[in-house]
Amino acid sequence: ADLNLQEIHDTLVSVAFEAGRMIMSANPSEGDQGTKLNSVDLVTETDKAVEKMVSTRLRESYPSISFMGEETYTPGARVGPEPTFVVDPIDGTTNFVHAFPSACISLGLAVDKRPAVGVIYNPFQDLLFTAIGGQGAYMHRGAAAGHGAPQRLPLAKNPTPLAGLGSALVGVEWGSDRHGPNFEAKAATFRKLAASPSAEGGGGAMAHSLRSMGSAALNLAAVAAGQLDMYWEGGCWAWDVCAGWCVLAEAGGIVVGGNPGVWEPELDGRVYLAVRGAPSGQKEIVEEFWAVMGDHR
Ligand code: IPD
Repeated sequence: ADLNLQEIHDTLVSVAFEAGRMIMSANPSEGDQGTKLNSVDLVTETDKAVEKMVSTRLRESYPSISFMGEETYTPGARVGPEPTFVVDPIDGTTNFVHAFPSACISLGLAVDKRPAVGVIYNPFQDLLFTAIGGQGAYMHRGAAAGHGAPQRLPLAKNPTPLAGLGSALVGVEWGSDRHGPNFEAKAATFRKLAASPSAEGGGGAMAHSLRSMGSAALNLAAVAAGQLDMYWEGGCWAWDVCAGWCVLAEAGGIVVGGNPGVWEPELDGRVYLAVRGAPSGQKEIVEEFWAVMGDHR
């Protein structure tokens, strides 16, 4: 049967607000923290409780739609062609644990392995981003409080048109992988993005600066809103990007692979470069970025 994407969107927004209340009433400093991969890959009881609430509500409302969530992921699973909710209960767990007010719930629906609906909600700022494929992306400040109105993205009052890497504010993340070739690639990329072209070693792009929202979904939403120009990450998962990808694409941005030549990455491709809308298209900007950072495969 045809999916009612608007109804799914509305359900996801209501689930996101409920998750926001759980996140805001939790106190992750009270001994509920644990780690997964290593000492910086954090998970809290709240991550697990929020995912349980979300999966229960979505299975009740949409028993025929598959579910993939960060906390119940089985290694090796991929997003399939059947409609699938792709969920990160708390994207930005490190921020949540540190009370740094940049974390969100990220709720995506993938159909045919592509993002079809995206809902991202940062309860610390009562800030909501939503999109339905083909119907535009919206940002709503004060959404749960019922203040203001959704603003369509990109905003009419947008920053200077994006000309290239040399005038870009670029989102990057350390992620939780802190050793080996992946770590070296990340550190080298950050250095190249920041360095003056005349810096020792050469080849620098000297972007305006680098930023980390601490949440892949919020990085993608920031690119959609024109607050960041680009975002590069070499180790995220489908639940980190599904919702944000939908929001960004509907705002005129693109997601390509983080390595040269990958114009149409998979939803679970792990390495991504996101670029906001640009007057002459994003192709040259992507190629400039790929040339600076090189191939890390
Ligand atoms: C992480 C955040 C972080 C990114 C990692 C993600 P989590 O998600 O999005 O910014 O660098 O790749 O895994 O663990 O907070 O849900």
